[in-house]
Amino acid sequence: MDIELIEKELDSEAQNINSLASLEEFRVKYLGRKGVVAQLTGSFPSIEPARRSEFGRRVNELKNKISAIINQKENIFSDSCGVQQFSDTVLDLPGIAQDIGRVHPLTKVSKEICSIFKAMGFSIAEGPEVETEFNNFTGLNIPLEHPSRDAFDTFYLDSLNQEVRNPKEGKLLLRSHTSPAQIRVMKSRKPPLAVIVPGKVYRPDATDASHSSMFHQIEGFMIDTNIKFSDLKGVLEAFAKAIFGKDIKMRFRPHFFPFTEPSAEMDISCIMCKGKGCSSCGKKGWLEILGSGMIHPNVFKHVGYDPKEYTGFAFGMGVDRIAMLKYGINDIRLFFENDLRFLEQF
Ligand code: DAH
Repeated sequence: MDIELIEKELDSEAQNINSLASLEEFRVKYLGRKGVVAQLTGSFPSIEPARRSEFGRRVNELKNKISAIINQKENIFSDSCGVQQFSDTVLDLPGIAQDIGRVHPLTKVSKEICSIFKAMGFSIAEGPEVETEFNNFTGLNIPLEHPSRDAFDTFYLDSLNQEVRNPKEGKLLLRSHTSPAQIRVMKSRKPPLAVIVPGKVYRPDATDASHSSMFHQIEGFMIDTNIKFSDLKGVLEAFAKAIFGKDIKMRFRPHFFPFTEPSAEMDISCIMCKGKGCSSCGKKGWLEILGSGMIHPNVFKHVGYDPKEYTGFAFGMGVDRIAMLKYGINDIRLFFENDLRFLEQF
């Protein structure tokens, strides 16, 4: 092995060290157990005795030089906290774009609805998804024999503490609508009240294009000493125009809900066919978007309000359904499948 040749090669290799990995390769090649220096030392017995001391000196010099190179490079890389330094880094090369994700369409629509009501003076409240039978049914004037209390229509919790619970509050369940939040808010606050409650609700429905066992509702209510049905109509009309556009038409149809009297469902003119009749509206030209009514005196009694002093209206709507109408989505399951090809469109 020619030491001079090795030294030359060493210099050009040292210039190519551009990372901790290549530095390690360099170290192993020259100072490793079977490396260049070890081989030179191993060849010592074959050197003529007269040249041995000169040979030994040069091998030592070579070894020192290699160690110096390694030290110097190590300093460079440790200064940059282990980040690789490339002598040929192209500083103006465009970076790799990171996809930062986006707001889910249901969150978007829910926020939009809430902000429309906020602008009308409503505040936002939330309630728990695990509710009591009292808040979900009894407090809302839903009688004991009402079919919605059936286990076919409500998820009851199989909790160990069910028996020891206060019998007035009844069993624990997954709320089947956002209306129990009315009871919670009324119990903890006094009128005047104007409140919106967005949230998840649960029903044991078989999943299909228009049903999901978890979906989203927004509840709203306004209570004061002189709230009338015309206030309900005015607020909901302003809401429908804000979300579906000024040209939307509305109608109220009489309906029945145990917690409101009188009750009404609100329809809007079909946004697909503008009221002419199409497959989306079942050829009727109208789409039902929410339930509403004047809060039943029994509900007020349950929370300790005097029904002679206060009146109020309430309403509840399905966010998933409104989002489907707004974006022309024909299958509720698309919201919950997390398919980026769907989500990236919003
Ligand atoms: N809770 C009803 C449901 O889930 C919706 C509803 C109807 C809410 C009328 C109300 C109301 O507050 O007044 O179908």
